[in-house]
Amino acid sequence: MRQRIFAGNWKMNLNINDGVELVNRLKSIHTESLIIVCPPFTMLDAVSKAAKDSKVMVGAQNMHFEEKGAFTGEVSADMLIELGITHVIIGHSERRQYFAETDETVNKKTLYAISKGLIPIICVGESLQQREAGNAPEVVNRQVEAAINGVNTDKLIIAYEPIWAIGTGKTASPKDAGEVITGIRDTLRRLLGDKADDISILYGGSMNGSNVNELMEQKDIDGGLIGSASLSYEKFIQLF
Ligand code: 13P
Repeated sequence: MRQRIFAGNWKMNLNINDGVELVNRLKSIHTESLIIVCPPFTMLDAVSKAAKDSKVMVGAQNMHFEEKGAFTGEVSADMLIELGITHVIIGHSERRQYFAETDETVNKKTLYAISKGLIPIICVGESLQQREAGNAPEVVNRQVEAAINGVNTDKLIIAYEPIWAIGTGKTASPKDAGEVITGIRDTLRRLLGDKADDISILYGGSMNGSNVNELMEQKDIDGGLIGSASLSYEKFIQLF
């Protein structure tokens, strides 16, 4: 179902106490939006327990695409599910940039997450160079197409995060972000038919309480994937 969603990507920040406290406070918020928090692996257990029986969902920031085996340092879908995790961020630009994620691994992880009933939050986005060359829509739609190759469900979320807007304080203009995201919905419609209308597409990149309304006015933007503003209760709740 297409839903208004605000997902906090904590990246490599906070500690267990901070994370549990943040979730305990978020649990008491009344909102129509779906709230997801994505802590580092070490906090997933504690945060998931804190969120249990509440409307706050917990996601991981990554997972491996194999079931199990000799993959030192990796975490499997079953390990996440065992902790009550429902969502998983896949192909964040920081993973593509620093940890050799490719469209191919993103696709494998997406397919595997879906096969296990986890909801992937698939990240796509162009670099500054690609945007300046006028190639943003093409780059992003190619990433979407590669990521969902072989997928036939609406149980997924797409996050459009222009790389140059992440952690920089620069936000894509609502119109630019809206245009790219409408292009993503068109691509989804071409590939998945009517299911495209049930998929939530989020914007990410310096989203905060000051720019959220203008972004959310765009017809195809359903919410946000938020980094720094999700680390503080006061800042995060300004979004929903
Ligand atoms: P910021 O909100 O800190 O720019 O991070 C966005 C992001 O990368 C979320 O995944």
